[in-house]
Amino acid sequence: DSTLKQTLVDAIRNIPDYPKPGVMFRDITTLLGNARAFRRAVDELVHPYTGGKVDKVAGIEARGFIIGGAMAHQLSSGFVPIRKKGKLPHDTVSIAYSLEYGVDEMEMHRDAIVPGEKVILVDDLIATGGTAEGAVKLLQQMGADIVGACFIIDLPELGGRKKLEALGVNVRTLIAFDGH
Ligand code: PRP
Ligand code: MG
Repeated sequence: DSTLKQTLVDAIRNIPDYPKPGVMFRDITTLLGNARAFRRAVDELVHPYTGGKVDKVAGIEARGFIIGGAMAHQLSSGFVPIRKKGKLPHDTVSIAYSLEYGVDEMEMHRDAIVPGEKVILVDDLIATGGTAEGAVKLLQQMGADIVGACFIIDLPELGGRKKLEALGVNVRTLIAFDGH
């Protein structure tokens, strides 16, 4: 609904020309620091899943950890961190993913998901979708049943949502901004 969207839009801080000229950075730290906005965002993200069983919420480092942790608690699910390379101590599976310039690698513990478990993927924002696509492939490789991928912010012009939907993933976003 429009009041929810407005609450979230108002709680996000817009920083022009960060991290580089021409980019409008959507800073969610102000949303996280706003008790009402944070609660409403998390409530809305978990809403479609409250009736069924979700085994794990998988959050993408770094901001996906904050939102995903809150969602997992509310759904009484486990939480799985998808981390940047070299941060996890046990046996990992890893995948290369594309960034705006170049590639990076993300990892997950090999035993973090039992094949067939129902998993929700979460991050703060989807732009080109390179990051989320990598996470989806990692989860699929581990045999996860991905019941949905959710994000507070969509930048639809960058095409990430369509990229995930083309992989057969149900995508849910709360608000969208034009441009980069
Ligand atoms: C940002 C954002 C998403 C990703 C989206 O993270 O938090 O994770 O970019 O971009 P994409 O859809 O084009 O892949 P960033 O890589 O800046 O890292 P951080 O969350 O650790 O700060
Ligand atoms: Mg990120």
